[in-house]
Amino acid sequence: MKRRPVVIDCDPGVDDTLAIVLANANKQLDIRAINPVAGNVPYSSTSENTLRLVNRLGINCRVGRGADRPLVLEPFTAGKIHGLDGLGGYILEKGDNEFDDKYAWDVLYEEAVKANGELELIILGPSTNVAIALKAHPDLERMIKRVTMMAGTLTQGNTNPYAEFNVRVDPHATQIILDSGIKEKYMCGLDGNLSCAFTTEETFDLFRMESSITDMTDHIATFIDRRNKAMWNLTVNNINDLCTMACMIEPEIAEYREVNCRVECYDIPSIGRTIVSDEGEKNLHYLVRADKQRYMEMIREMMRYYR
Ligand code: RIB
Ligand code: CA
Repeated sequence: MKRRPVVIDCDPGVDDTLAIVLANANKQLDIRAINPVAGNVPYSSTSENTLRLVNRLGINCRVGRGADRPLVLEPFTAGKIHGLDGLGGYILEKGDNEFDDKYAWDVLYEEAVKANGELELIILGPSTNVAIALKAHPDLERMIKRVTMMAGTLTQGNTNPYAEFNVRVDPHATQIILDSGIKEKYMCGLDGNLSCAFTTEETFDLFRMESSITDMTDHIATFIDRRNKAMWNLTVNNINDLCTMACMIEPEIAEYREVNCRVECYDIPSIGRTIVSDEGEKNLHYLVRADKQRYMEMIREMMRYYR
C-alpha cells in the first residue's frame, strides 16, 4: 500500500491529542513530523505535550521546534478551555525522545522535499509555523499536495463574536496560507465540524471503549463533556481537531464548497474573522458538513487499533 506522507502542526490541546491518536491508528498515513506551536496553552506546554504524546503512542517521527508566539499579534491562550497544562489534567509520562535539532518550518520544508510533491499537511492550531515556512522557503508551496486546516467559522466565533481561536491567535499566518500557491487548501471550521458533534452518550460510547489508551481518551472526553456543559451549557461536543483529522484522512466523508476566503487582520472587534464569498477567485474548499456515521466508525476502528 502506498502510504501518504503527512506533517501535523498542532497546539495540544485536548482535541489535538485525540486527532493525533486517530492519525497514528491509520497505517495509510506516514507521519513524518508533528510540529508544535503556541496556541491553546503556552509553547512550553504544547511542545512538551507533543513530545510526550509521540512517546506514549510510539510514533517514529520528528518533533520540530515551533513558534512560541504569533507573527504579529500579542500571544493569548485558552488555558480555561484545555486545562492549564493543555491536556485537561491528564498526565503523559516524559519519555527519552527529544525535539529535532531543526525549527518546525525547516523540518516541514525538508519533509516536503523528501516527499517529492506528495506531502500532505494538516494544521490543528494557529498557522504560525507554516506561514514562516512559506516565507522562508518560497518553493515550498509547490511541494505541498494538500493542506487541511482546523480554522475559521461562518457563524458564531469562540474568541470574539466572529473569530475562531486558531485564526484569531494568528490571523496574518492564516492569510499567508490563503494567499499561497499550495495547490489544494481545505478549511474545516467550527460550523462544518458541528455537523459531527457528539452527544454525551455518543462521546462516552466511543472514548470509553476498551483499549490500551482508554485511560487517556476517557479522561479527555470526560474533561471536554464536563467543560462544555459547565462553561457553555452545551448538549453536544464538537471535537474540532478530531473531525478535521477525519476529513483529512478520508476526504470522501466531507462535503466542501469552493469559496473565496480572506481573514480580517486589522479591525480589532472582528480580528481573525474568516470572510467567505462565492464571488471572486476561489482559493479554498470550505467544509459544509461531514458524514457523522462514518466519522464515528473511524473512531471505533481507532479504539480497536489500540486494543
Ligand atoms: O477553535 C478550536 C481550535 O482552537 C482547536 O484547534 C483547538 O485545539 C484550538 O487550537
Ligand atoms: Ca488545536
